[in-house]
Amino acid sequence: MNLTFRQLKVFEAVARLLNYTKAAKELHLSQPAVSMQIKLLEEHADTPLIEKLGKQLYLTEVGHEMYSYANNTMQQQIDLEETIAQMKTLQQGHLKLAVASTANHFVIRILGRFAKLHPKIRISLEVTNRSSLLEILDKNECDLVIMGLPPEGHNLTAVPFLENPLVVVSYPEHPMAAKQQISLKELARQEFVIRELGSGTRSAVERFFAEHSLEFKSKMDISNNRAIKHAAEEGLGLAIVSLHTLELELKAKTLQIINVEDFPIYRHWYVVQRNGKRLSPIATVFKDYIMKKADKLMQDFNMPAFNLNESQ
Ligand code: PGA
Repeated sequence: MNLTFRQLKVFEAVARLLNYTKAAKELHLSQPAVSMQIKLLEEHADTPLIEKLGKQLYLTEVGHEMYSYANNTMQQQIDLEETIAQMKTLQQGHLKLAVASTANHFVIRILGRFAKLHPKIRISLEVTNRSSLLEILDKNECDLVIMGLPPEGHNLTAVPFLENPLVVVSYPEHPMAAKQQISLKELARQEFVIRELGSGTRSAVERFFAEHSLEFKSKMDISNNRAIKHAAEEGLGLAIVSLHTLELELKAKTLQIINVEDFPIYRHWYVVQRNGKRLSPIATVFKDYIMKKADKLMQDFNMPAFNLNESQ
């Protein structure tokens, strides 16, 4: 059956009012136009929907069934219009984000502030490493991703919004911790606990060592920043991690930043989306929020900034 939304709408009015003239008036149509739509609908259905006995209109049995469907359809249209209006005014909406494991801590703090401004929204947050984030983007499974600079060739737009310094840390009693300035050669002789292959932090560290023609020895690969910090606290090796993961350990003084030549490795955090992605209203507002407010919020949160002496 090839019925149209317009025919259903006309039918709903006629069936509700049981009067062609009133239905025509309500719909701002002429009465013949209303009769024509009903006739076409009956042709599609191949059965009468309305009967006239004396001067009174009645719905046939199929007409009653059609009325119930038409009613639901009209209600759905009203609901849809309301939902769109609410989404546009950010009274509701579903923000789908994915973030690099390393960014998870500060992004959640930023989301805490954002959610207070938009209390009715729902948020989905996927936390994973860089290579999985690229897959999520390739499959168009979220609105926005927060990660280090993505590679070329994935058809992505990436906008930087915050510096991401990578630093070397150890437990405070480590022999390296007391030294004033450690050369890269000396650093390269140490053993490290480091993120797994596929992590953005890991590839940045490997690139840095390769650029300085040095080898880098991983004693232990760990796929989780918290476990890496724990391993460094336990003396399993030096760790190279984003400063943004160290808020608690630096405050508690269970880890200390080591003063190494050419460190920190300066990276940036980017908001990333697929080219051509049509962002929902809430995703558009969140992107704008994080780009404009991230720097200030990091200060409000008292997140560590890179200043070796203060951090120690
Ligand atoms: P991560 O960092 O994969 O090491 O958590 C993300 C990135 O730098 O892109």
